[in-house]
Amino acid sequence: MSAFHTVSFADTTHEESYKILAATIHPRPIAFVSSQAANGHLNLAPFSFFMVGGSNPPSLAYSPTLSSRGAKDSLQNVIETREFVVNLVHREIAERMNLTSKGVPADISEWDLSGLTPEPSVFVAPPRVAESQIQFECRLFQVVEHGKGPGAARYVIGEVLAAHIHESLWSDGVIENQVRLVARLGGHDYIDTEALAIFKMQRPV
Ligand SMILES: Cc1cc2nc3c(=O)[nH]c(=O)nc-3n(C[C@H](O)[C@H](O)[C@H](O)COP(=O)(O)O)c2cc1C
Repeated sequence: MSAFHTVSFADTTHEESYKILAATIHPRPIAFVSSQAANGHLNLAPFSFFMVGGSNPPSLAYSPTLSSRGAKDSLQNVIETREFVVNLVHREIAERMNLTSKGVPADISEWDLSGLTPEPSVFVAPPRVAESQIQFECRLFQVVEHGKGPGAARYVIGEVLAAHIHESLWSDGVIENQVRLVARLGGHDYIDTEALAIFKMQRPV
């Protein structure tokens, strides 16, 4: 008898596959992405399928997966305008970040829903989240499509043009070792790496 239960993903629905992947591959930091449509509408949404890719040039990737209606607004926006800002999330803004994950029509701004403050960016049009301690201005390098239909990955790869680091974390040209973000765990759990505490947030309906 094997000590392992083997799941062949050829036999699972995408919802079942999501549950296994999201419950196991963590803690995941959160890319809180600010983007802008060609018509000017602003969007703000969190994505924990997120990683740094390299440093020469600096790059990162996140994946807004397809929904039952196709591309999420933030994916559509970066395809249209090729710019976005990744804001990092610490405990103080976790609830407001969570509010922006609500599925709302493209013409409703998650900035208004959350009460977060848009701060003009330097190199790109989408604003930064003023309350976030670290913000990365990015230009779209490529969207890599993997799969079709709900749950399919769309890897948005961005070249990082600039990092904005709060002065409380910056000393004499180096980043102090005090960046303490929140990260996504399985289910409704998150970890606050400052307090080393696990807390829960339900997705807004
Ligand atoms: C903490 C957190 C992490 C999330 N991570 C992802 C993710 O990696 N990929 C994804 O497609 N949706 C993710 N979501 C859901 C999206 O934020 C949600 O679908 C949002 O409505 C997308 O916004 P948009 O349609 O305005 O682009 C996450 C939600 C939360 C609260």
